[in-house]
Order: sequence, then structure tokens, then C-alpha cells
Amino acid sequence: MNHFHYKQGELHAEGVSASRIAREFGTPCYVYSRAALETSFAAYQQALADVPHLICYAVKANSNLAVLDILARQGAGFDIVSVGELERVVAAGGDPAKTVFSGVGKTAGEMRRALELGIHCFNLESAAELEVLNRVAGELSLVAPVSVRVNPDVDARTHPYISTGLRENKFGVTMDEALRVYRRAAELPNINVQGLDCHIGSQLTDLSPFIDALHRLLGLVDQLAAEGIEIRHLDLGGGLGVRYRDEEPPAIADYVAAIRAELGDRELTLVLEPGRSIAANAGLLLTAVEYTKPTPEHNFALIDAGMNDMIRPALYQAWLDIQPARHVAGREAKTWDIVGPVCETADFLGKGRELAITDGDLLAVFGAGAYGFTMSSNYNSRPRAAEVIVDGEQLHLARRRETLEDLLRGEQRLPDGG
Ligand code: LLP
Repeated sequence: MNHFHYKQGELHAEGVSASRIAREFGTPCYVYSRAALETSFAAYQQALADVPHLICYAVKANSNLAVLDILARQGAGFDIVSVGELERVVAAGGDPAKTVFSGVGKTAGEMRRALELGIHCFNLESAAELEVLNRVAGELSLVAPVSVRVNPDVDARTHPYISTGLRENKFGVTMDEALRVYRRAAELPNINVQGLDCHIGSQLTDLSPFIDALHRLLGLVDQLAAEGIEIRHLDLGGGLGVRYRDEEPPAIADYVAAIRAELGDRELTLVLEPGRSIAANAGLLLTAVEYTKPTPEHNFALIDAGMNDMIRPALYQAWLDIQPARHVAGREAKTWDIVGPVCETADFLGKGRELAITDGDLLAVFGAGAYGFTMSSNYNSRPRAAEVIVDGEQLHLARRRETLEDLLRGEQRLPDGG
């Protein structure tokens, strides 16, 4: 079911019209559907119902507290990559014991906090990190649960900036190195080997790279078992793609079924770290057309959201569907470049779109629930957008729009006479 739909020509998020959201909270504004978030999370839960599992939503995709709260209430665990994300999980009522900590550059301070809170597992990305974690855990008289993130050297066939499982990427360790890291981990007093981890990339629309990676991982599980190192859980990361335009990613149920078929009857707890497949299509960005500007080359629609609000088109040439929030009969469609107010030529959200729009119209940028607000910035000293949650007929403010005071907070001029 689509939680964003048109009723009598007007876009609604669940039971709330886009124009009401704009009236109450202004634009640009991120809008998330609670039901959509719950539906995609439930698809993972149902597909895994009869096997030991932990679904660790990847916080980086959308880290708004209300979003984390919605997922925590469904029983989600979390995949974090910084102590900032960890504090968000805690503030949202998430369970540290269901949280895994990924990322190539964890600091000793971040490890300390995660150990104190008793997280589920550290996904180690280097031999050096293992030594630091053992020391920090020792200082706290604790034992750190670990997995090693393996880079299985498979081609995820996605955009190079979001491909992570090739030898040339900075993530994880090679299969050979992993053996050495596990042997060392097994010797260290403040380390407890729990699992094996990988994450090969994002927006994958084909199952075969996942299955290739899993196949290689299982080989390593067996090799480790032969050396007396027991792997209890297998963390396959995130990466399942979504439809933005005409992609045909596998359904969540089919993705999980393929993994389960490959796992057979092995007694391994399955950990997944989905981000995009939970949040992307649960959110849109509402923005208003400030000006229309026809030029000999292009018709520009200047909107009030820019690349600072949504950087994916500029950074990855990502295509996001853009539609008017109200269909007005009898208007002529033209081809538009939808551009923001930021002083960069890369500041566009869409190019060459056939739309019947004019000044003052509200537009919706779909597929904006993941890697939208979380990648936003204050570039050009632009306050960041509001975020709202729609729940049936109800509308909740999840993050107020930043103010001009927010922009200056924490900064100061030089001392007088300096
Ligand atoms: N686990 C790890 C270790 C990750 O690095 C990521 C994403 C995920 C899980 C979640 O992957 P997902 O299920 O969302 O594909 N900013 C880019 C995407 C970067 C993904 C980084 N890692 C974009 O907007 O396309």
C-alpha cells in the first residue's frame, strides 16, 4: 500500500493533505509516514519470524528521534556508526543491547560509551581497532563482543560512491586478514568473538552479490570453526535497494528468503542492517516553487529546497520523482529543471521534468525518507528544514525548522581589541 497518494487531485500523506502540512509547518519540510515505516519494518520481521534474528535499522539513513522511536516500539535494534547515533538510539528509547556498532574509525571514547551501555556487538574493521577495543574494555573491566567486518570482494554493481565490498574500498578486512584478526581476537582477554559481518554496498537491485558474499562468509565460518573459533551470528549489513523510478529491487520477503535458502539449517542468528529499504519510500520532501524562470536553454523552477536539504541528486546523480502536490486541470505541461537557491551549479533536485507548475506551487520530492535530512547541511547559511511525522489524520512535529539563532549558536567573534 502506498502511504502517499492523491485524493481529489491533492497529495496526501496517510490522512493529511500536503497543503495542511505546508500551512502548519512551512516548507521545505520532510514528511514521514509512520505506517510506511512500520510496514517495511514488519516485512523484515515477518520474513524472519521463525529464525533467530536481529533487525538493526541503520540509523544513518534517517536518525530523527521520532523515526527511531517508531522503530524501537516495533522491536527494532539499531546499527550505529558514531557515539552521536548511539545517543540518539538511547534518547529514542532504543535498546543498546540490540545495537551493533559499525564504522572504520571508532574512537576510544566512542568504544567506552558503547561498552558502558552494553551494546550487542562491535563490528571491527581493522586489526588496529581490535587492539584499541581490547585495551578500552580492559580499562573498564568489561569484555567486548565483536564481529569482524569482512570485505568479501564482490561487485555490488551500484553507484561507485555507495559500493563498499570491493578490495579497493576502505571498509572491512580481506578474507585472509580476517582469519588473522579472529585468531588474535580469540587470544585477547577482553574480547569475545560473537559474529561475522559484512556490508557490500547500498541500493542493490540484484540478489546475486548478496548471495555471493554470503557464500564466501559461510566458507570463513567453517574455516574458523575448524580452528575452534565459533561464530554465533552472521551480520549481512544493509543494502537492499528501493524503487525510485523504474528499478526493480527484490521484495524484502524475497531477499530474506534467498538468504535463508543459502544458510540452510545452520544454527546462526541472522543480523541485518537495513536503512534505505525501511525509510526511503516512507518519506518525501515538500518544497514550494519560489520563482519560475524561463531562459533560452531551460525553464528553471526555483524551489525553496536546495542541495543543502537533499544532496543525493548532486552527489550521486540520483533521480527522485518530483510531482506537484496538487494536480490542476487544464494547465500546460512544460519541461523544467528543478533547482534550489544554493550558489552551485550542482544545486538541482531534478532536470528535464515534464510538469504543469507555476510560481507558488507546492512540490513533493518522493523517496526522500532515507539519506535526505541526515545528509543535509547549513551550506549557504541555510537553516535546516522541519521534519514531521504523519500518523493517520495526525501530524506531529518531529524536528522544528532551524532558526537564524540556531545558525549562529556556538560561534563567537574575536575578543575586543584582538
Ligand atoms: N550497514 C552499514 C555498515 C552501512 O555502511 C550502511 C550504509 C548500512 C548498513 C545501510 O545500508 P542501506 O540498507 O541503507 O543500503 N548516502 C548514500 C548511501 C550510503 C550508505 C552507507 N552505508 C545514498 O544516499 O545513496
